[in-house]
Amino acid sequence: MTTRIIGTGSCLPAQVISNDQLAQWVDTSDEWISSRTGIRNRRIVKDETGAWMASQAAKKALENANTDAEEIDLIVVATCSNDMQFPSTACQVQEAIGARHAVAFDISAACSGFLFGINTVHAYFSAGIYKKALVIGTEVLSKLVDWTDRSTCVLFGDGAGAAVVEAAETGLEGFVQYSDGSKGNVLTCSSRKIQNPLQETTEDYIRMNGQEVFKFAVKKVPECILQVLEQTGTKKEDIRWYVLHQANSRIIQSAAKRLGVPEEKFPMNMEKYGNTSAASIPVLLDEMNRNGMLTRGDRLILSGFGAGLTWGAAQIVW
Ligand code: UT7
Repeated sequence: MTTRIIGTGSCLPAQVISNDQLAQWVDTSDEWISSRTGIRNRRIVKDETGAWMASQAAKKALENANTDAEEIDLIVVATCSNDMQFPSTACQVQEAIGARHAVAFDISAACSGFLFGINTVHAYFSAGIYKKALVIGTEVLSKLVDWTDRSTCVLFGDGAGAAVVEAAETGLEGFVQYSDGSKGNVLTCSSRKIQNPLQETTEDYIRMNGQEVFKFAVKKVPECILQVLEQTGTKKEDIRWYVLHQANSRIIQSAAKRLGVPEEKFPMNMEKYGNTSAASIPVLLDEMNRNGMLTRGDRLILSGFGAGLTWGAAQIVW
């Protein structure tokens, strides 16, 4: 028994912020941002919350999968920017969509979160514990970035994507996932600071050593994709689409080159949404699904990488 995606959905905030608008806030330009990252716009929340966007994406995914919320056994939400410390975003989604039979919890694996979520659900399905699940990535990174730091604030965006998955005969064929906490300091964001009468507190934001993250990604992404292909005995030519975390078009182009696979097989949408962390893969999958780019039987590689450090890849049959 394996894990099959049977429906997708997404929800992006209404407000669009262009590179030109950002150039009014920090010393940057559309030319710098788009040539270094492929990003031109991002969506930034006004009133939307992470849990609300996740619930909207989940409802659309359920509709797309022709599945009732009451059939869902498990909800896994990947997020590194939850609205509340508790309850979890997953429990808020459970309530919002009426999935009253589901067990719900969040996982924290930053930009690898959706992929790790799929793999976690797969483990439950393989053990015969659950049969239907929602895996969601949702982020409000705009509240975690320092809007005076041009090296990070231009990169990120808000949004949510969801997939309904079920235990089936075909679907996920293999995966690898990794963590390296020893390199965690290259991409960080602290949680609430200690607050008591004896201790001063200062706000903290996303801090990133961009070049180190870049080097890590261009090495590890192709490496783990090749590992999955070897694990499943699949030729790289037999993969229809390589669906990678949408952090930077140059990272994706480099992965394509290292793998020797045409860039056309690597769909990208960071131009519209920036880097939405755990949401980027499910948002892209939903766009591809709705644009008719996915045919049942297509083989896909999903690959995520990010803070932790965390990274991995999975091969699925659509
Ligand atoms: O989800 C995973 C999370 N993150 C990533 O995947 C990010 C991985 N890293 C990257 O994508 C790239 O490293 C960045 C896009 C973040 C930066 O690109 P880079 O080519 O590595 O630029 P850099 O950091 O080496 O900076 C080059 C120059 C610097 O100026 P000097 O020192 O050469 O005068 C920066 O101060 O660009 C300057 N710079 C900017 N200039 C205009 C940095 N940010 C900006 C900006 N606008 N927004």
